[in-house]
Amino acid sequence: MIKETNGKLGILMPGLGAVATTLIAGVIAVRKGLSQPIGSLSQMGTIRLGKRTENRNPLIKDMVPLADLNDIVFGGWDLYPDNVYEAAVNAKVLDRYLLEQIKPDLEAIKPMPAVFQKEYAKRLTGEYIKPQTNKMELAEALMEDIRKFKEDNDCERLVMVWCGSTEVYIEEGAVHQTMEALEEGLRNNDPAIPPSMIYAYAAVKMGVPYANGSPNLSCDIPAIVDYAKENGGLVAGKDFKTGQTLMKTILAPGLKARALGIKGWFSTNILGNRDGEVLDHPDNFKTKEVSKLSVLEQILEPEKNPVLYKDLYHKVRINYYPPHGDNKEGWDNIDITGWLGYPMQIKIDFLCRDSILAAPIVLDLALFMDLAQRAGMSGIQEWLSFYLKSPQVGKGLYPQHDLFKQKEKLHNTLRHMAGEDLINHLGLDYYQDEA
Ligand SMILES: NC(=O)c1ccc[n+]([C@@H]2O[C@H](COP(=O)([O-])OP(=O)(O)OC[C@H]3O[C@@H](n4cnc5c(N)ncnc54)[C@H](O)[C@@H]3O)[C@@H](O)[C@H]2O)c1
Repeated sequence: MIKETNGKLGILMPGLGAVATTLIAGVIAVRKGLSQPIGSLSQMGTIRLGKRTENRNPLIKDMVPLADLNDIVFGGWDLYPDNVYEAAVNAKVLDRYLLEQIKPDLEAIKPMPAVFQKEYAKRLTGEYIKPQTNKMELAEALMEDIRKFKEDNDCERLVMVWCGSTEVYIEEGAVHQTMEALEEGLRNNDPAIPPSMIYAYAAVKMGVPYANGSPNLSCDIPAIVDYAKENGGLVAGKDFKTGQTLMKTILAPGLKARALGIKGWFSTNILGNRDGEVLDHPDNFKTKEVSKLSVLEQILEPEKNPVLYKDLYHKVRINYYPPHGDNKEGWDNIDITGWLGYPMQIKIDFLCRDSILAAPIVLDLALFMDLAQRAGMSGIQEWLSFYLKSPQVGKGLYPQHDLFKQKEKLHNTLRHMAGEDLINHLGLDYYQDEA
């Protein structure tokens, strides 16, 4: 039984940069009938229900009670005080003509001062930050922000999606194991607690679902996961699956399905936005690299297919190149082998737009997290792996990276919530492609 919506949904984003402002401007433009929410499954995707002969293929948003775009209020934090109009202009993702038409709506959204410490994102310098120096006090200040935002905007429900920068690489340690240890660490300013973890802590403590769009450790620790699970909280992460990794998780399952071998996969990109600048620092790139590298191994399972994949050489590079701005260019060179080991090559040159691909993911994550909370779910929302480069999973489980398996899981979870039969493509329905 899913609780019906009865009021506004607040979407709170730490980090009002390129992705967040592209989402906000996009939703407002769609509401005003100026554009279409392309790339958002929650708005444009259909889902097959029942048997083939029933011919039922509703829009997802007509099958489950998602929050309506008109009932969304946006808020967030940043270490720069720019309002969303100014931040969107700086991000240079959307054209000025569109932004001018919705300028008053965007100007009205101003960030709250951030929880920020420079040692976690060395390329950033901002003054608009909370004055407290103790991490527990910072968490309490965030909880106060959340309470106030909810009240001021008359929201019935909230979700939080981390759209802030990638932080330096941090490994899970003792301080992350239990809520007691984490709280002790917050009080003692433990260096293994970065700002994104303080936001995640504040969110789960307030019962606000938290999704992590960056590769940061953030909510991917037992302390937060267990607390969420036991208290009806929800988390999902990590790292929006947008350009090159999206392509990888589309292509690799296809090559594997045809039992073609892969000897090497070299991926490099150039991008010139602030995200690229942050990732230009080796400590921050390391966090991203770990997230990007895990994908192929899980899909190809070299231990089960040693002849085809045991020699796979996988390399990922990100290069900061300001002239390209947000228009990332991703190159892939894939060395594959066919019949009798004959070599072939595939080249991809994806002229993508980072934030254009990421914005609908933030929207879907927010709407589906809110739906899942109303459906009584809790803990890690693995069914949202579809949107994530390095899906967060429970202890002892491996993440599923194959985009098509992820889509099945997402669709079946939605069918389950709506009380519809699950579809597993066995039996009579085997030959029917899903809509
Ligand atoms: N754009 C994509 O395709 C894509 C894909 C996957 C992941 N991501 C991740 O999404 C995040 C946002 O990307 P973006 O392109 O919008 O970057 P961006 O640099 O334009 O925006 C990030 C914003 O976060 C702010 N910020 C940093 N630390 C903060 C903190 N502690 N509290 C509040 N604000 C903080 C920065 O000031 C900046 O305005 C990054 O972590 C990026 O790695 C983006």
